[in-house]
Amino acid sequence: MGAREPEQVWHIAYFVGTRPEVIRSARTLRALAADPAVRLSVINSRQHYDDNMMDAFFRELHVPAAVANLEVGSAESCLQTMTTAARAAEALLALRPDCLCVFGDTNSSLGAALAAAKTGIPLVHIEAGCRSFDMAMPEETNRRLIDQIAGLLLPVSQASVDNLAAECAPGYVHRVGDPLLDVFRESFFPFAGDREGGLLTLHRAETVDDPARLDELLDQLSMASELNSLEWIFPVHPRTRRALPSDAVSGVVFVDPLPYRDLLTVLSRSRLCVTDSGGLQKEALWAKVPCITIRKSTEWIETISQGANVLCPPGGNLVVAVQRALDGSVPRDFHDPYGSEDASREVIQAVVGWLAAGAQYRVTPSRA
Ligand code: UD1
Repeated sequence: MGAREPEQVWHIAYFVGTRPEVIRSARTLRALAADPAVRLSVINSRQHYDDNMMDAFFRELHVPAAVANLEVGSAESCLQTMTTAARAAEALLALRPDCLCVFGDTNSSLGAALAAAKTGIPLVHIEAGCRSFDMAMPEETNRRLIDQIAGLLLPVSQASVDNLAAECAPGYVHRVGDPLLDVFRESFFPFAGDREGGLLTLHRAETVDDPARLDELLDQLSMASELNSLEWIFPVHPRTRRALPSDAVSGVVFVDPLPYRDLLTVLSRSRLCVTDSGGLQKEALWAKVPCITIRKSTEWIETISQGANVLCPPGGNLVVAVQRALDGSVPRDFHDPYGSEDASREVIQAVVGWLAAGAQYRVTPSRA
């Protein structure tokens, strides 16, 4: 006798558009594609479009292919968001899924969320409630707006749950484990030898768009390299590539963007990670590598309270921060505040349970 067909098959659309969304969603998307109770439609804005920023991750992490590629590409932030919204709306009107899932904080996520709200498709926000409280970051605006229109909110930390409560978000809130940790666990191999180098990533507009600021940061990293006999491996994001000085920087090795497993290999061999990325702050904690984040604030406050991560805003004294991170004087706890056994399964169960219950908001807005 063959396997029984499920009584109800839910059509779940899932939106990606940038490198981090593809990585973080990889295992959840594979699990959705394999679930007989789900019909999956992946929609890709292609905000990131180079092979080594997008397609390579579909191949490496065996992500199910998209049914719609929106070819949004690079643009000014507002135009990028609005082009995504218009093209995502066309895709959603053609597909008519039971819900749309978006992840995180990108312009793609916000564009797709607006399209869902305007075409009447129930919206799920994975990694909801994250806040840096820095409204100068485009990601902060994106997150806050998505959280106010999503019907199901899936935060990955208690701080995020508390933020959603404080903002009276109208959706159902269901805390899940971090789907990025599922993908990290499959891809990371601890290094048994002596750690030697440093991992460096910089791509945020406020870090790299001002050439003088970027130059100063690289000067400081070069000095820290000399003082600590440490070489930085720097996989260069395309945005950063355009801003880099043409001369070589002593102590810094520039390489092209790396596949996910290669990046984790460099991380596992590093004494320290310096970054302005969101995800790497958590990956460094999971890899037990101290992290310095080149930002004024972070949404991953648990990494800071554990001493695993320190903030050094652009313009701060990075040489001293590196020195302190390496001299062992900072008490550190690499206990995992985001984990669960199988976050991707938790996400799917929460989404399917919510759809079966009618995909409603938690509160009906009213004057009372
Ligand atoms: C975006 C997300 C950020 C995420 C980051 C990861 C927003 C507001 N920010 O920022 O949350 O952490 O992605 O990378 O959405 N480019 C290429 N080739 C590519 C991809 C991008 O040349 O394959 C260039 C673009 O021309 C642009 C830059 O890289 O200059 C990327 O800019 P943008 O699309 O705004 O994304 P990020 O800055 O990467």
